[in-house]
Amino acid sequence: MNILVTGGAGFIGSHTVVALHEAGFNPVIIDDFSNSNPMVLERLEKITGKRITCYDQNCCDTTALQAIFDTEKIDGVIHFAAFKAVGESMAYPLKYYRNNLDSILALLETMIPAGVQHLIFSSSCTVYGNPDQLPVTEDTPIKPAMSVYGNTKRIGEEIFRDLVSTGNPLKVIALRYFNPIGAHPTGLIGELPTGTPNNLVPFVTQTAAGIRPELTVYGNDYDTPDGSCIRDYIHVMDLAEAHVAAIKRLFDLPLPTHFDEINVGTGQGNSVLEIIKAFEKVTGKPLPYTIGKRRMGDIPSIYADVTKSTQKLDWKAKRTLEESLADAWRWQQGL
Ligand code: WQD
Repeated sequence: MNILVTGGAGFIGSHTVVALHEAGFNPVIIDDFSNSNPMVLERLEKITGKRITCYDQNCCDTTALQAIFDTEKIDGVIHFAAFKAVGESMAYPLKYYRNNLDSILALLETMIPAGVQHLIFSSSCTVYGNPDQLPVTEDTPIKPAMSVYGNTKRIGEEIFRDLVSTGNPLKVIALRYFNPIGAHPTGLIGELPTGTPNNLVPFVTQTAAGIRPELTVYGNDYDTPDGSCIRDYIHVMDLAEAHVAAIKRLFDLPLPTHFDEINVGTGQGNSVLEIIKAFEKVTGKPLPYTIGKRRMGDIPSIYADVTKSTQKLDWKAKRTLEESLADAWRWQQGL
């Protein structure tokens, strides 16, 4: 089975390419390297022993997509390609709406006439906003997005849901990620933030590596046990394997059309201060940090109810937080 992986040179995309290969699928990458590095392709060849086919193209380009569908016998699509920096999305909303929504529309305009029916959509727990109940299930009310980035994910889900409900021959699962961290255990691929990292774990590893003088904990006065924010940190290889489980489920579905949304997390919440302590324990490296002001847009706590993913995908995260942090540190040391 040939699976088109849009954004397949990116953080989650590249790890999913490995998981697809290991599961016997043939991944085909489309990536314009606007937020990823072509070096990843060499690393993927080292890990899989195979040169993964990659089209250096933009997913919004229907001509480019059409050429790929004409050349490769694509059986399914996993759509990662999107801009994903929350802060940047508030500064450049049009860039985010244009890129993140055009790529969805271009994919649909190409895959439907090509008879490609199966698609996994990279969505996010950010669609829940600040939830009223925890853990969040897929029935937890969707809240107005806290960012333009989050809104592109919510709108993306609606577009796929509408295309399915209006009778197009599509089977789609939207996977709502929590916080992906870590790296492939070889240390050959991992998270490559450009510039100052927005996300916690790359900032932690860069601080431990001496690239950053210290970590700022964005607030310790939240209504949580230790005052710092709680998130559901999932190993990126667990997340990658959830995509394989989801695409397998789509191929096994007897129905002509299908739409579902599924949380992908560990079901475990950890605070920022707990991440720091776990990192120091795993690496033996003290982590210099200070308590700073809250970051605008942060919510106190969110973590997943994993019942649906366990039942519908026959999948469960199996790597520990310590493994995630050890793999993240190994990756940082190789940079
Ligand atoms: C985690 C916690 C920060 C950096 C984002 C996106 C979300 C999803 C996952 C794509 C927060 C704290 C962080 C730092 C800190 N991405 N922090 N100091 O914000 O939960 O989610 O990534 O789908 O859409 O919003 O992740 O890693 O940025 O922050 O104290 O230097 O770490 O305040 O509480 P977040 P994050």
